Amino acid sequence: MKGSELVDLEENSTTAAQQRRGDGRQNAFDTPEFREANRITLDVTHMLEAPGPGSIAMEKIETLIPKVLKAHEMLQREEGDIFDHGISMTGWQNLPATVTKEHLAKIQSVAKAMSAEIDAFVSLGIGGSYLGIEATFRALTHTYFNQLPSAERGGAPEIYFLGQNMDPDFFRDTLDMLRGKRVGINVISKSGTTTETAIAFRIMRKMMEENWGADADQLILVTTDKEKGALRTLAGDKGYRTFVVPDDVGGRFSVLTDVGLVGLAMARIDIEEFVAGFQVMREISLENDFWNNPALVHAAMRHAAWCAGKKIEVVAANSASLYWVARWMEQLFPESEGHEGHGMWVSPSLYSEKLHANGQMVQQGERNIMETFLALTEHDNRMSIPKTDNDLDGLDFLVNRGMDMNHVNRMVVEGPAYAHYQGGVPNMTIEIPHRNAFNLGQLYYMMEKSVSISGYLLGHNPFIQPGVEAYKRAMFALIRKPGFEKKALEMENQLKGMKRIRV
Ligand code: PA5
Repeated sequence: MKGSELVDLEENSTTAAQQRRGDGRQNAFDTPEFREANRITLDVTHMLEAPGPGSIAMEKIETLIPKVLKAHEMLQREEGDIFDHGISMTGWQNLPATVTKEHLAKIQSVAKAMSAEIDAFVSLGIGGSYLGIEATFRALTHTYFNQLPSAERGGAPEIYFLGQNMDPDFFRDTLDMLRGKRVGINVISKSGTTTETAIAFRIMRKMMEENWGADADQLILVTTDKEKGALRTLAGDKGYRTFVVPDDVGGRFSVLTDVGLVGLAMARIDIEEFVAGFQVMREISLENDFWNNPALVHAAMRHAAWCAGKKIEVVAANSASLYWVARWMEQLFPESEGHEGHGMWVSPSLYSEKLHANGQMVQQGERNIMETFLALTEHDNRMSIPKTDNDLDGLDFLVNRGMDMNHVNRMVVEGPAYAHYQGGVPNMTIEIPHRNAFNLGQLYYMMEKSVSISGYLLGHNPFIQPGVEAYKRAMFALIRKPGFEKKALEMENQLKGMKRIRV
């Protein structure tokens, strides 16, 4: 039997866009037409007056507006509970306006030169030093990127991620994918001491040095603090090329710094277009007129929902590519809001897949849920639905009415938006016109601003994560890290005092 061919299908537009980027051809992101066609919007119609408990009245939003505007003013003036070790953590606010063309060109040139030397690139990092890169990469590239030939990847190397967990099988499987390939890495850690990243780096460095000796040093990039930390010291000793995580930008706000830009340039994503998207939303969200500032409206609606008892935010994408953006939001919001018993749990979802699982809970479970749709307006490709001889599944009507899979997919936003609202789940839709870097830049900036305003409304610092330290201390004690002996003893004694229940 011969292998299958793709009959009646045009070229995959995701691959075509990747190849254009690989050839250095950019979207016309500076033109008014492009900007008009690529402006993300926020629709909050279904947030207000949903039936049932926890309904949000317009009056509630009106009472919040002065508080939101005050928070906005304080954020811009860098006032309030926004400091970490004496540094105002608001550097992300003006990044879009301060990142220079020369800096982007330098990153692009390193990425281009390095990709000529390698087959595969591995980004090492966790949390904010990881998620923005994978989210953006997945959002803008082919689902099976690494299985495509190099030309269809626009000349980019295969892209992998390590250090984002401690799973030895995941690590081993990834190493298997690197076998026989020339490999480059970027190790990303602001602190330079994060355990997961450091272990991943040890393994990769050993493998690279065993294979290529001193030449490995040329294949290692380091992204860390500009002057301090273990990675900075090592990079100085070994002469690794380095990139910087700015002092005043926290991990989860760092996708527009070198943390994100280096890996994205390596994947041939247009980082100039990405910056332009951030710039546009920065301008839009400087607006002091509440109803003309989507970041402020977004923050107020989520806060009102939280006050009304909504403790879970389902972030549902109608595109597998945007599911990873929902995962980025899953970090940004809970790691920033989860203090003092506050905050909304973010549950990233791909619809319609999840509608056949926890969709039941959203419709009829405990009424503590709100929902945010990440709705991609135009997918890269269209998939038509074939007609059959006998119409046994009763779907010929779709074909007869000229509806394709794209049309049905759109209804997995509009159907749930209506049904869940009727079931008492307030919901909003972020409309994302196309899968491009310009749209993602806008979305990220809007979310960063919204979560910062949320910190003021909740009354605590959204730029720190002291709670994360508790697990680290317990883990260090358990792995007998020197300096954690007292904690280890305390844990042992506490466990001794507990009745073990094992079944
Ligand atoms: O958002 C954050 O600050 C965290 O998620 C950090 O990015 C994460 O813990 C990794 O830290 P580091 O870059 O210091 O290794």
